[in-house]
Order: sequence, then C-alpha cells, then structure tokens
Amino acid sequence: MFERVADVTEIPPGGRKSVIVDDVPVLLVRVGEEFLAVEDVCSHDGQPLTDGPITDGAVTCLRHGARFDLKTGAALCMPATKPIPAYVVEVRDGEVFVGPPGAKPTPIVVKVPAVSDATPQADLPVVSASTAIGDAVPTPEPGADDDIRLIEALKQVIDPELMVNIVDLGLVYSINRDDKKIYVEMTLTSPACPAGPQIVQQSKMALERLRDVDEAEIKLVMSPPWTPDRMTDEAKDQLGIF
Ligand code: FES
Repeated sequence: MFERVADVTEIPPGGRKSVIVDDVPVLLVRVGEEFLAVEDVCSHDGQPLTDGPITDGAVTCLRHGARFDLKTGAALCMPATKPIPAYVVEVRDGEVFVGPPGAKPTPIVVKVPAVSDATPQADLPVVSASTAIGDAVPTPEPGADDDIRLIEALKQVIDPELMVNIVDLGLVYSINRDDKKIYVEMTLTSPACPAGPQIVQQSKMALERLRDVDEAEIKLVMSPPWTPDRMTDEAKDQLGIF
C-alpha cells in the first residue's frame, strides 16, 4: 500500500517534508517537479537527515558530512559506506504517495574500485599519495628509506571516525623535506570532517617526534577530493568494504 503523505502544493520546488511511512521516518524532497524520498536516518551513525543541505540531488548529513543520493540512496562520500533506502514516490491527482516499504529499491552498494583502477593522480612531489598507498613499497631509491620512515610515522595517526590510519585511508597526498623541516599535504574524507584539527595536530606531532625533524608543516587541501578508491585493501578490509 502506498501511503498518502502530502499535497503537491504543500511542498514547493526545493522544499521538503518529514513524513512517517510504515513507522519509518522518511525525508520527502521536491527537486524541481520531481518528488524523491529516502529514509531519514544517516547510515553512518543514525543522525536524522531532515535539515541537511540539499545540493545536486544529494542530501548532506549535518553530523559528519556524509552525502546520499536522493534518487538511489547511495552513499556518495565518507564517513558513510552504506546506502540508505530510497522510496518509490508517486504523484496522483495533486497528492503525493510514498511506498510501500516492500517497493524499496534494492539498496545500492557503494562501488569501490580496486586501487589499481584508481585514476592516476597529478604529479605530486617526492612522495605521492600513490606511493603512500598500498602494501608494496617501491624499490628503494636515494632517499626512499627516509620517505618510508616519514610514512610509517604518519601511519600512527588514526582517523577517529573510521579508526583507520591516515596513510591507509589515502589522506596523505605528498611529503616534502627541506633539511629538518617536513611539508605534508593531506586531505580529509570530507570537508566537514570534525576530526580535521585533531588529525592535523597528531600528524605534526608524529613527524616532529622523529630525531631528525625539527618542524612539520601540515597543509590541508581539498583538491583533488578524497574518494574511497584511495584506500588500501587493508583499510577497505578494516571498514568491511569489498
Ligand atoms: S551520522 Fe551522518 S555522517 Fe556521521
């Protein structure tokens, strides 16, 4: 049974309404002339999506920044790795119907391409993200031992949301050394990641603990944006992503 949840005139384009369908909270959104509905619960940690910003057909969780496609429910960015149910919506004679729950499309599993399929990154100096990622450390070159030591130091920094180290998550983009000063460019799983300051501080401390490092400068960059394909297989295993 579809449930009548609203009149079309109640929800202007760009508007939304929280409704209950078969005892489940559902977020009904009007995008242009189209009505879309998803379960109103973030798959990361249960936050209601009710007031999350909506852009480009996706809703953002206000708690940690995960985004979900409103048509499919697919999780578009971390920290969410699982989709939310997307409901079937019908408009009949000026009224909006949602459901039935049995008509939920099969949840779409986030496709995580193998690391080997990942788009090669732009030229990154000294130690690129692709060098930092992966089980296989490249054949030692001059300075490679030093690079590995720096990477190992950064591996001690754990993302508190995902409980995986920042190197295996693919957050470290580049490491440069100028004598005793280290420059690191890194990113976060999402711009809204609340753990950002903590990760930056811990990365700085991890590097400055090394005997031959006086100072570490950590720069956060959001371009290129982080995507799950940057994770090593080990990190994916830890997060239960296959
Ligand atoms: S609860 Fe939604 S992103 Fe964490």
